[in-house]
Amino acid sequence: MEVVILDSPADVGTHVANTIETLLTSSDAPVLGLATGSSPLPVYHELIARHRAGSISFEHARAFLLDEYIGIEEGSPQSYRHFIEHELTKHIDLPAEALAGPRLLPDAGTRAGYDYERRIREAGGIDLQLLGIGTDGHIGFNEPSSSLASRTRVKTLMGATRRDNARFFAGDVDAVPKHVITQGIGTILDARHLILIATGAAKAEIVSLAVEGPVTSMVPASALQLHPHATVVLDEPAASQLALHDYYREMFELKPERIGL
Ligand code: GLP
Repeated sequence: MEVVILDSPADVGTHVANTIETLLTSSDAPVLGLATGSSPLPVYHELIARHRAGSISFEHARAFLLDEYIGIEEGSPQSYRHFIEHELTKHIDLPAEALAGPRLLPDAGTRAGYDYERRIREAGGIDLQLLGIGTDGHIGFNEPSSSLASRTRVKTLMGATRRDNARFFAGDVDAVPKHVITQGIGTILDARHLILIATGAAKAEIVSLAVEGPVTSMVPASALQLHPHATVVLDEPAASQLALHDYYREMFELKPERIGL
């Protein structure tokens, strides 16, 4: 895994936006995997600024969401589709029909996940998947004990995750749905490049477990250790409990591409 430690969330935004800009300018049909939550927001702010400045376009891109709540209206402010429209897509030139999210259609049953996986495959697979990390180690909404080979499916949230996310429901934990539909860990691992973003001291402990602990379904984000191209981008507080902190900094400075090797 590549671990990139930067000074601030704004630097995280710039770094990850650089990678996305490279993808957008080098591919005729780039496919992005988008994440919700506060961690990717500096990236989205930077992408919007670059789009407004005319340096990047999403006209030929496709985008897939990681997950969605079940039981709240599609357009409601708490839905992840609404979140991503509000924070990113309505400010850029991604065509409306190019944004897809997993949905539990009436009577779809287990087919809902299968249909979403088919849509991702038909788009050619995801080139670059953004991820945050929950304080319990979840990615998407794959809670601890999720199979590392899981595919898109309905999951039940843990109490800790519902409490963390109550801030998006006016602090009312009872208003947070108990069920979600999420890309599985196996689905996420199919993306060609994974970028996990974590900022702030509250993520330091789980980041160290995910990056330096054993690969285990009890820390779903540890599955990134199995991926051939996974990048973890952190600010200093989120990186503060990493045993190899200084080595990661040095490795980044001495990256072969940076020094012309
Ligand atoms: C939610 C989302 C995750 C996200 C996590 C962390 O549970 N389903 O995709 O990574 O929150 O959110 P934040 O970045 O706000 O800490």
